[in-house]
Amino acid sequence: MSLAAMSASRVNGQVPPAIKPDKKVEAKVEKVLKKMTLKEKAGQIVQLTIETIQDDSLQTIDPVKLDRVIGESKIGSILNVMHDIAHSREHTAGMVKTIQDKSMESIGIPSIYGLDMIHGATYLTDGSFYPQEINLGATFNREYARMMGAALAYETRAAQVPWVFSPVMDLGRDPRWPRIWESWGEDPYLQAEMARTETKAIQGDDPNHIGLESAAVSIKHFMGYGVPHTGKDRTPAYIPVNDLREKYFRPFKECIQAGALTVMVNSASINGIPTHANKELLTGWLKEGLNWDGMIVTDWADIANLYKRDHVAADVREAVAMGLNAGIDMIMVPYDPEYVDVVMSLADSGEVPMSRIDDAVRRILRLKVRLGLFDKPLWEHDYKDFGCERFAAESYAAALESEILLKNEDGILPLKGNERILVTGPNANSLRTLNGGWSYTWQGDADNFAPQYNTILEAMRARFSNVDYVPGVVYDEEWGEWMKDYAVGIPEAVAAAGDCDVIVACVGENTYCETPGNMDDLNLSANQKDLVRALAATGKPVILVLNEGRPRIIGDIEPLVKAVVDVMLPSNYGGDALAALLSGDENFSGKLPFTYSKHINALHTYDYKVSERVQTMGGSYNYDAVMDVQWPFGYGLSYTTFEYSDLKVAVPGSTGDPLGFSDTDVLKVSVKVTNTGSRSGKEAVLLYSSDLVASLIPDVKRLRGFEKISLEPGESKVVEFELPAKELAFVGADGRWRLEKGDFRLSCGGLASMVNCRETKVWDTPNI
Ligand code: BGC
Repeated sequence: MSLAAMSASRVNGQVPPAIKPDKKVEAKVEKVLKKMTLKEKAGQIVQLTIETIQDDSLQTIDPVKLDRVIGESKIGSILNVMHDIAHSREHTAGMVKTIQDKSMESIGIPSIYGLDMIHGATYLTDGSFYPQEINLGATFNREYARMMGAALAYETRAAQVPWVFSPVMDLGRDPRWPRIWESWGEDPYLQAEMARTETKAIQGDDPNHIGLESAAVSIKHFMGYGVPHTGKDRTPAYIPVNDLREKYFRPFKECIQAGALTVMVNSASINGIPTHANKELLTGWLKEGLNWDGMIVTDWADIANLYKRDHVAADVREAVAMGLNAGIDMIMVPYDPEYVDVVMSLADSGEVPMSRIDDAVRRILRLKVRLGLFDKPLWEHDYKDFGCERFAAESYAAALESEILLKNEDGILPLKGNERILVTGPNANSLRTLNGGWSYTWQGDADNFAPQYNTILEAMRARFSNVDYVPGVVYDEEWGEWMKDYAVGIPEAVAAAGDCDVIVACVGENTYCETPGNMDDLNLSANQKDLVRALAATGKPVILVLNEGRPRIIGDIEPLVKAVVDVMLPSNYGGDALAALLSGDENFSGKLPFTYSKHINALHTYDYKVSERVQTMGGSYNYDAVMDVQWPFGYGLSYTTFEYSDLKVAVPGSTGDPLGFSDTDVLKVSVKVTNTGSRSGKEAVLLYSSDLVASLIPDVKRLRGFEKISLEPGESKVVEFELPAKELAFVGADGRWRLEKGDFRLSCGGLASMVNCRETKVWDTPNI
């Protein structure tokens, strides 16, 4: 059966709706739709940036432009912030009110405002920020995805904005790509678990009735965006169809089935087809395949990209028709209201059937009804928790659990407290780099907006009595040149090292987001490596702190330093968290949510194929040889030690060795974890499976479960996992899910147990 045929087969009522329709919602949608003119319909389909209605002060809305955009063009949705700068909750709410009043007066349909709230309410100057998603991935703790989702929805809604372009769920499987920090790492299961948890936390329990403390999500970017062939943003990806279904589609499916109301599309292309023009994926896999009645929005200017960049359409008309016919419902244009005329003319000519226009508008109206915007285009509610201490405490706790100790030679950490410490490096005194992009501005500008929080240097000074600071290397301040750094005083840093006992070298990257983050060399910059080499040559112990959005290669300088901590992008409390961890007042528990590569020509993910591994002498492949990476996925140290024992697998009703199972069984796995050290600590317990023989070359292992536990010294806990056998299935070359008979190895904390699948099962449906 072809993939398209499989898509079609389950439309006939076999797939239960991803979101159960609500009669009242549907009746309201039909009632509104019936009264709409073609122009009003086209206006709903077009989304513009607020820049199209801002006045010259870049602070408020220009009534003449507003009249043009909403009064005349009937635009149904606005996004973004003026001049790419966050405003306060109050100011934002005021702007939304102006738009909403105009919309109700001239269209009679509420507008929907959408904002990128990526790691908290990150487009509100007074919003609460959490560590970036990559950090939350490193906690392996779903609670933080829940907390961040709930807080960002609450605070966004408090600013009269009901829609967030979040969570990001691009599998970050290529460390060169400048957006890997926006999502939860390289593994599909981790990605799916965290994104689904956040989706539910943002939207609440009932997608038909989103409450006043919740918002609609836009899960993004559908899909395969994170593995561009070139490593550069918005460039083509080439993904085998089995991987597409098994690894890239699966996390989206989980979120859709958890009620996700909107999806934003991958700006680039897969296997030569721009995703915005890919009817099989947008309509086939997503809408029909999951029987999903939600709304698909484009990414920024991506319909124009169909003709301007990708040359699959000759002009704007052809591009709009191509996108709408593929399944796009709302076009993030984002500057040109004349797209309304294009949509109208395509409907008139029949190039886009009226049924497709109506379907798109229905989906947009349904979203607005589900959000309650028709009843309350603006709302009054007591948002007393806005910016509260609890959100701040959660952000700090998440930072603590996300910073990863990767090396600790001779137990140099924790510090004793009375050392003379030299803090150095371009990331030492920057709040901006702790936050990364999407922080107050698109490219990130926390230093200007949030000086009340502590940089690493400030936090170190607050916790330790003897701290000296010499930057050594600094970043460029020019817009567009931020990625560059300059060696302004390596000799001064070396001189200061003479007077200290230990050096904390804070290196990494300046902030970036999307295409401005493209680069040609994954190595940590030459200046920063020079700084580390010069400091190490003094003979003083160096603690390397990495503050970076992607794993910059440090293979040549790592042997020179005593300790390495990767804080990634821990946000406003990241400096405080680091100081507490270095001092030993807190313990590390973060683990890498991606593979940290060592060599530029050896960029791998943890679920590689055996043949990717170093071939041993004599030409054989050692199945259990360790890949030569800097640190593997799931790696992270603690100040205490954990011992794993008693790995047990049970399959109800099954005996024998190995235990047999079939596709409907649920495997019960348990393992005992003991804190064998002298300090309390948290441990992320990770369960993997390996399919030992399969008809497609199997991945060497796959993450199948994780739990974060907390243990006092000497304490033991038994961690239990329920693993439905069908989770061990993979997608074959024909696009079908298959669970094949044969042995599987389940492993956890260095222990392993074999189980045996008794018979092969192949599913006809595209989703299981
Ligand atoms: C980004 C999206 C974002 C959108 C709206 C695009 O450039 O790729 O992630 O949601 O802009 O700001």
